Amino acid sequence: MTEQEQGVEREPTPATAEAVFGGRLDLAIAYAELLADQGVLRGLIGPSEVPRLWTRHILNCGVLSEVIDDGATVVDIGSGAGFPGIPLAIAKPEASITLIEPLLRRSTFLEEAISELGLQNVTVTRGRAEEKAVLSAVGTADVVTSRAVAPLERLAGWSAPLIRIGGRFVALKGRSVAEEIERDRAAVKKVGIVDLTVGQCGVDILDEPTTLLIGSRVGTDKDAAAARRAARRAKRGR
Ligand SMILES: C[S@@+](CC[C@H](N)C(=O)[O-])C[C@H]1O[C@@H](n2cnc3c(N)ncnc32)[C@H](O)[C@@H]1O
Repeated sequence: MTEQEQGVEREPTPATAEAVFGGRLDLAIAYAELLADQGVLRGLIGPSEVPRLWTRHILNCGVLSEVIDDGATVVDIGSGAGFPGIPLAIAKPEASITLIEPLLRRSTFLEEAISELGLQNVTVTRGRAEEKAVLSAVGTADVVTSRAVAPLERLAGWSAPLIRIGGRFVALKGRSVAEEIERDRAAVKKVGIVDLTVGQCGVDILDEPTTLLIGSRVGTDKDAAAARRAARRAKRGR
């Protein structure tokens, strides 16, 4: 039976994909095929996503590379089938990306996808973002990213401890971002994320550009107390 007979029509690779993935477009195409095939079979994405895999998912996430510096250390919380972490890793080979995903079925798929695509700049950590023990590098990420993982207050609470002071919180958000900011700004500040701004990327690439919520990580009283405790421990150890 052909794909059309099965009712799962794949979206052709858009001409704009080359502008996002450049010489690594073949990897993005291989990832799209993997998602449309194994991703659907194994229940990681719904079949209704297949006809819009590029526009709604792969390009929508790949354009995030516009705001990520070369060489950045990125932690992607709740990657699911790999969004936004895998398209970002394809578009930004100089960045080093850790995907955090608690569900075994999803983390297994992520490991297999990375190995099949031969992505050298991505690793997977199975666990929840708030379980600091799962991360070897708490407080060292230049950027923590996420898409569709949790409401802003909770997301900020999980993200902040992973971001280095001076690093950035970058969440892909929907149309209700302004209301989320209004509702949660104070709680987000409490965990050390300030200067919330709404931005867009993929403006010249997507009909509907990707909306980003960006914040800066600053030190909190809790961070200062932790630093004092660490200094005392170091002194005792001397
Ligand atoms: C709606 S899915 C979104 C997946 C992907 N980010 C996307 O945009 O397609 C939410 C994902 O967040 C993961 N998740 C939920 N709570 C989490 C936590 N505390 N830490 C890390 N990941 C979490 C879930 O397992 C799930 O894969």
